[in-house]
Amino acid sequence: MNKWGKLSLGMILAVGLLSGCGQNKNDDTAATGNATNGGATKTLTMGTSADFPPYEFHKVVDGKDTIVGFDIDIAKEIAADMGAELVIKDLPFDSLLNELSSGRVDIVISGLSPTEERKKAVDLSDIYYKAEQAIVVREADKDKYATMDAVKGTKIGVQTGSIQEEIAKGIEGAKITSLGKISEIVLQLQSNRVDTAIIEGPVAKSFVKNIPGLVITDAKPEVEDDGYAIGIKKGNKELLDQVNSTLTRLNSEGKIDEYVAAASELADSTK
Ligand code: ARG
Repeated sequence: MNKWGKLSLGMILAVGLLSGCGQNKNDDTAATGNATNGGATKTLTMGTSADFPPYEFHKVVDGKDTIVGFDIDIAKEIAADMGAELVIKDLPFDSLLNELSSGRVDIVISGLSPTEERKKAVDLSDIYYKAEQAIVVREADKDKYATMDAVKGTKIGVQTGSIQEEIAKGIEGAKITSLGKISEIVLQLQSNRVDTAIIEGPVAKSFVKNIPGLVITDAKPEVEDDGYAIGIKKGNKELLDQVNSTLTRLNSEGKIDEYVAAASELADSTK
């Protein structure tokens, strides 16, 4: 609880006051419940890059492809607190903030790190979770790349538009391959086209657990932004306040840790 103490309380807004969560209809649905607002259905459209277990990923649930993960659990709670129906759009990570600024999505929840540059483009919520970065390599190379010094000059795989891409740019002699999806980076590692990959710790853990032959080394990339925030269109204070009040509630109820544990289990189960 303590680390969340700084989240400010008293930002509870009445449901229905919110703007910016428009009536936008589209066919990328993964709806939860049916909220009605004076006859019309109010929606909260979330943009995410669902390649990122346990944050957001695809899973067959009851025979149906579904986007799940702890970011999705948080989104459902925000939508519920708003009395809105959640619509999920699976988009390339590097397009998310543009989609937000142009109003095609209301909110971005995608393991988003609150960098200074992003703060200029969109509004960001309070931090809802923290994690470290990891270096993933082929098993045989585990000791070879045990320090950040050893990672210098290697062929590094990262996700396009991510902070990992920025971290890689700061590594001396790095030969960077930027790709749209984490699963593509993993393939490049497996096929020897890159030798190292920088991936968020929890995501790296999920991939190495499920893919034989890949491991996390002892090397620790340094980053300033080790927390995650939710993106909201600049100036939409009502939605920002709503998001922060839901996060405050979830933290005080211990829900986020619960969601992370459940999503990690779901990501690791083959069923
Ligand atoms: N935390 C990193 C960033 O904000 C990577 C996030 C990638 N998220 C995803 N869903 N693929 O740049």
